[in-house]
Amino acid sequence: MEGKKILLGVSGSIAAYKAAFVIRNFVKAGAEVRVIMTPSATEFISPLTLATLSKKKVYSTYIGHADEGTWNNHVDLGIWADVMLIAPATANTLAKMNTGITDNFLQAVYLSARCPVVICPAMDLDMYQHESTQKNMSDLKKRGHLFIDSEYGELASGLEGKGRMAEPEHIHQFFEEYWNSELPLINQKWLITAGPTHEPIDPVRFIGNHSSGKMGVALALEAANQGAKVELISGPGTPTVNHKNIHQVYVQSAQNMFEATVPLFSDSHVAILAAAVADYTPAKVAHKKIKKKAGDFQIELEPTQDILKYLGTLKSAQKLVGFALETNNEIENAKKKIKSKNLDLVVLNSLQDKGAGFGHDTNKITLIDAQNKLTKFELKTKAEVAADIINSIQKL
Ligand code: CTP
Repeated sequence: MEGKKILLGVSGSIAAYKAAFVIRNFVKAGAEVRVIMTPSATEFISPLTLATLSKKKVYSTYIGHADEGTWNNHVDLGIWADVMLIAPATANTLAKMNTGITDNFLQAVYLSARCPVVICPAMDLDMYQHESTQKNMSDLKKRGHLFIDSEYGELASGLEGKGRMAEPEHIHQFFEEYWNSELPLINQKWLITAGPTHEPIDPVRFIGNHSSGKMGVALALEAANQGAKVELISGPGTPTVNHKNIHQVYVQSAQNMFEATVPLFSDSHVAILAAAVADYTPAKVAHKKIKKKAGDFQIELEPTQDILKYLGTLKSAQKLVGFALETNNEIENAKKKIKSKNLDLVVLNSLQDKGAGFGHDTNKITLIDAQNKLTKFELKTKAEVAADIINSIQKL
């Protein structure tokens, strides 16, 4: 909802008090809200309350304060909005919207709005059921307006039935889903690995590497912001993310990462393996701390499972993306990886490039696809690089 421009029209119903909660939820979620009240709505809740919550002037008349000598521009407001929400919408307001009567500022803005319109009716049960109200709502639906229907319950009249305005949290949920459905990666599951692995030598020592996990996290955030549900398998020290679309799991060793990643692959649309997984691990892990002795000390290492290569053997409809960090013969080595690991795309970063690779907040990448097509990018922040990678995956 971040940055969305919402025009909230409040008409004269006891449910006008709920507008305060609607505004607060939108503002908390990062949206910009401008409020228009009908003159009778101002009898139910103070414009000052709604102005304070929206942090903006509230409009209810065509003319500003008489001493200001200004008028409120209904056309500008109508054009400004991404969406117009009428909540509460009384039977009277619905009738005026349907017939185009413009006897208040809210109706003038409504007629000027080019954006989608969402309506939350609020009235007593008999008014709601009345043929004229039903006809107005049906006509407005045919015009393409969306409704968040009234709810059932106790009404201000003391009667019980359908007519009360939808609860603010239901309205908020509607908009979350409404905007989510526009996101390009909605209904997709992405699997991302990030960070280093720690291969244990004994209870206090391990073999690790300099990976910070920042690139994997940037990819997870970008995919999640574009609507994907992300499983983020993170090595030690990877930053913790807090995003409703990201499920983050921490692992230690290459074997742990293998066990956490492989079962999730069959259900994923895309897997990006950005982790710097150890290629070798100690053949034996000492259960007690190894004591210092005179002379040399050797650790026998054995290969780890190559997770990316293993997923390549399981691949069906998924898109599989790997990373290659090279110091020399970069392009040739990366091309070999595409074939040997059955990848759709490889993200190459060279340690020869300043600002690329481990630990930095920036990266400089070249993407190579399965047809050996190369796309080179400038040095950018890891968030920008993540967006480039994800856009390229979408094109595959
Ligand atoms: N990878 C993996 N499992 C491993 C090792 C690597 O999934 N056990 C993945 C990494 O996440 C990365 C890619 O494979 O996406 C890196 O390929 P790799 O061949 O391991 O690169 P290098 O280790 O740099 O290759 P080489 O040893 O050939 O230099």
